[in-house]
Amino acid sequence: MMMQELEGVMSQALNTVGVDLPEGFQVQVESAADLRFGDYQSNAAMVLAKRLRTNPRELAAKLIEVMELGDLAVADIAGPGFINFRVTHSAWSKRMSALLGDDRLGVAWVSPAQTIVVDFSAPNVAKPMHVGHIRSTIIGDSLSRIARFLGHEVITDNHIGDWGTQFGMIIHGWKTVLNESDLEADPVAELLRVYRTVNALCGEDDAVRETCKQELVKLQGGDAENLQIWEKCVDLSKQGLQGIYDRLDVGFDYWYGESFYNDRLAPLVDEMLESGVARESEGAVCVFFDGDAKLDDKPSIVRKADGGFLYATTDLATIDFRVQQWHADQIWYVVGAPQQLHFQQIFEATRKRGQNPSMHHIAFGSILGEDRKLMKTRSGDNVQLVDVLDEAVERADRVIGEKNPDMDPVQRAEVASIVGIGSVKFAELSQHRMTDYVFSWDRMLALQGDTAPYLQYSYVRVRSIFRKLDGQMNIDPSALSIEADAEVHLARMLVRFGETVPILLDDFRPNLLANYLLELAKAFHSFFEACPVLKSDGDTQNTRLALCELTSQVLEKGLGLLGIEVPERM
Ligand code: ARG
Repeated sequence: MMMQELEGVMSQALNTVGVDLPEGFQVQVESAADLRFGDYQSNAAMVLAKRLRTNPRELAAKLIEVMELGDLAVADIAGPGFINFRVTHSAWSKRMSALLGDDRLGVAWVSPAQTIVVDFSAPNVAKPMHVGHIRSTIIGDSLSRIARFLGHEVITDNHIGDWGTQFGMIIHGWKTVLNESDLEADPVAELLRVYRTVNALCGEDDAVRETCKQELVKLQGGDAENLQIWEKCVDLSKQGLQGIYDRLDVGFDYWYGESFYNDRLAPLVDEMLESGVARESEGAVCVFFDGDAKLDDKPSIVRKADGGFLYATTDLATIDFRVQQWHADQIWYVVGAPQQLHFQQIFEATRKRGQNPSMHHIAFGSILGEDRKLMKTRSGDNVQLVDVLDEAVERADRVIGEKNPDMDPVQRAEVASIVGIGSVKFAELSQHRMTDYVFSWDRMLALQGDTAPYLQYSYVRVRSIFRKLDGQMNIDPSALSIEADAEVHLARMLVRFGETVPILLDDFRPNLLANYLLELAKAFHSFFEACPVLKSDGDTQNTRLALCELTSQVLEKGLGLLGIEVPERM
């Protein structure tokens, strides 16, 4: 809010000195790059002076003279014409009082709110869930939480691959190599084994490959036995996935997988042929993007010459459904970078069909092993998400055991799960999504470092202050007086929450929030060292407790937006 208030004051000052604002000009105030010179800064005088051909320092001086800052801040000129603002102690105190009564912790509601469909996770049934699905799940969940908190209407949809060519192999395997009791014990693992076995056989034997193809054709033709096997596989896989999502605390409003759209594909292609959006080419039906710089020579096939439909066809039908049924204003696809072309094509084809929701491919890079190559298991397979979660929790348990060996075992298991899973999520979300990051257990679980455990521990440390007080102190929001430098810095960081959350969706960067929380925790620890809380009294103690209270609220809320929980003890 402080930023907006200062922008308001600046606009008014421009008005007072009679500057004609150019079309579309917006006064901007930002967090100061160098805190020695102030808390906020604006380059408006420089931008305007250039356009109006006057001297920037003179314009800045004039503005400062007429600015009605009250006791909000003190302004001065720096360098070629920057205006720096130093927020006053009393303004910080007032701001902290306001935050204490604000359950949004300074984050304004967006306007206008939009209906946003978030398409993420979307693994393929009975095929191994790969690292890309891990990233998609964690990033997609966090973006959904952020968008919801800002006030958007968010619909999360798990577009699972439940109708791919893999079913030819799985059905053949089901009929020939399935182990019933293993299926009962661990369905996902057994389906995966069946898939891998048949996949390997296909590589060696053309006859097997042919049989699988036949099984697929039968399935697509509605063969009762194959349909039954398919349905069973999908159900079992969904149950397995649900177990993982529960551990991750990730939820979906819908699971409309690819098969949900089967009946809509043929009519859609017919309609596109009729309207001229698509045309026949060598027996197939394609959408051509003539004259499009990126896609000119890259048509999208929507029906093969043998009559089969493709991934793109399903995605077009899916967009259609989301626009018609859910009135989606925006659709976000959290899918790895290798699918970039696919999304460019379906977005463009959708526009050709005359629909224009705002569609975004939110891409991400790879996860690398410590050898900096794509992360694999020792046997060279894709790493399984369940194994990652198990190991994270196990390792977190060890870390907690070292720190707090007397913790009650039930509580310890609970904390280990919160810390372990939080670590995996934070390692993901603290990187820019396009970065290929190295997966390092030791680094992500370190109590000192840019990690979830560090933030969770910071939270526990704040809460322990209140436990020591045992409810004997009520914070009086009207009696705050921020004075010490460490108090000012913590207040500044607390205000920054409301300035950070609204920009996270600009380029889909939860990492800005992750990094902000690390800064906040650092500010808290410096404050805690410099400013005794329990040993102070009167207004000083009241003020410090208020800062502690707000710190714990922002840490909890901020981590919550990343999908990370906080323990009460650690
Ligand atoms: N199942 C796909 C895959 O594993 C991801 C689906 C993404 N969503 C979509 N609407 N195409 O690669």
